[in-house]
Amino acid sequence: MASTRRLKLTAAVAVAGALVAGMTVALATSASAGTTLGASAAEKGRYFGTATDPHMFSNSGYMTVLNREFNQLTNENGMKWDATEPQRNQFNWTRGDQLVAHAQSRGMLVRGHALLWHQQQPGWAQGLSGSDLRSAAINHVTQVASHWRGKIHSWDVVNEAFADGGSGGRRDSNLQRTGNDWIEAAFRAADAADPNAKLCYNDYNTDGINAKSTGIYNMVRDFKARGVPIDCVGFQSHLGTTIAGDYQANLQRFADLGVDVQITELDVQQGSNQANIYRTVTRACMAISRCTGITVWGVRDCESWRTGANPLLFDCNNNKKPAYDAVLAELNAGTGVPPTSTPPVNPTTPPGGNPTTPPAGGAGCTATVSLNQWTGGFVANVRVTAGSGGTRGWTVAMTLPGGASVTGTWSATASGSTGTVRFSNVSYNGQLAAGQVTEFGFQGSGSGSGMTPTCTAS
Ligand code: XIL
Repeated sequence: MASTRRLKLTAAVAVAGALVAGMTVALATSASAGTTLGASAAEKGRYFGTATDPHMFSNSGYMTVLNREFNQLTNENGMKWDATEPQRNQFNWTRGDQLVAHAQSRGMLVRGHALLWHQQQPGWAQGLSGSDLRSAAINHVTQVASHWRGKIHSWDVVNEAFADGGSGGRRDSNLQRTGNDWIEAAFRAADAADPNAKLCYNDYNTDGINAKSTGIYNMVRDFKARGVPIDCVGFQSHLGTTIAGDYQANLQRFADLGVDVQITELDVQQGSNQANIYRTVTRACMAISRCTGITVWGVRDCESWRTGANPLLFDCNNNKKPAYDAVLAELNAGTGVPPTSTPPVNPTTPPGGNPTTPPAGGAGCTATVSLNQWTGGFVANVRVTAGSGGTRGWTVAMTLPGGASVTGTWSATASGSTGTVRFSNVSYNGQLAAGQVTEFGFQGSGSGSGMTPTCTAS
């Protein structure tokens, strides 16, 4: 997992010309920062996107808004299974390629949506089952993720696989009937095909702590523990006239598992509460450093899939609605993403000096731990902050309570699993400038209460 992680992060820097620099271009050419959704989000280290479809690209009023406001695009339908593989092993890339080309020409990011889903499957796949469907599905993931390799910021690898209602379990579908491991098989195939993309699980009715979101939470926790390559969870957020009071807490508990969270398909029923609900969602994302971006499911009310709900930020005459103003204000008021987990672009001699002589005492580094516990287990997220001399490498020692043991670690290497465990940096996060912060995490069984981290820098 650590090597996968390193590959992703290193590669993310390598393709900076396509992605990060593109974002800079968008900032430079759009209206000044703080006056559009995309620019305001980018100032805070995030994206603000929309779903669209290339058939809208000839509509000049619509495109004026799209190009001005958004720095991330999702293909509303054109990258789905029925669109991309209408006949078995015959692929149609037209709409997806058009969307990617437009995004790249404007320095926008692309979310890929969606590799596997029980809906919008081509007829030939609907008629398959068992191992034949499994191999067709994995082939689909491999071919599609390979085609757009290096061009996708985040992929919805699996969409809507959990059941509504109180079960917290999987939804029945032809894919589910191929075996419960179909989701992890899809993530592993996507990771092999496009190691740079963030790989997300995406679903709806997950807008608070409820049975469905808890079922997904347990799956993500299990994936992290077993090294299944999942990077993010998408919260569609198709909302009505109310919003769960624990919307933010729910996002936070996923972030605490060590995945990014993204708002992927936001739209809100028109009504007296619309602007407030948009405000609440935006504020929640801005309050969570691992909430990396927000995507609304369309630009203008008249193109929305929710006919009559008028759930978007622009009316049919391209005018901003009150909800737009609420979102923009929250983006501008929000907190920037701290520069965590970012590998040094050009490693240089650390400001800490001679690597064989650790900086004295408290100048080295400090660490804090935040715990997310449940009966029988916990996830610990640890923040490492470099002292005034910076670090060339670091080790955080923690003594686990009796009976507790480490079952999985990310962004660090653990020595031992019980008693006093030492977590050392991996290759990309050891070198920190003075005051710079990085994070790692681990999952454990038993109770994690009372652990005090001690950080040593080299
Ligand atoms: C919707 C599109 O917006 C419609 O145009 C299409 O007819 C049906 O799909 N959850 C998802 C999206 O993940 O793909 C769906 O998009 C909306 C619900």
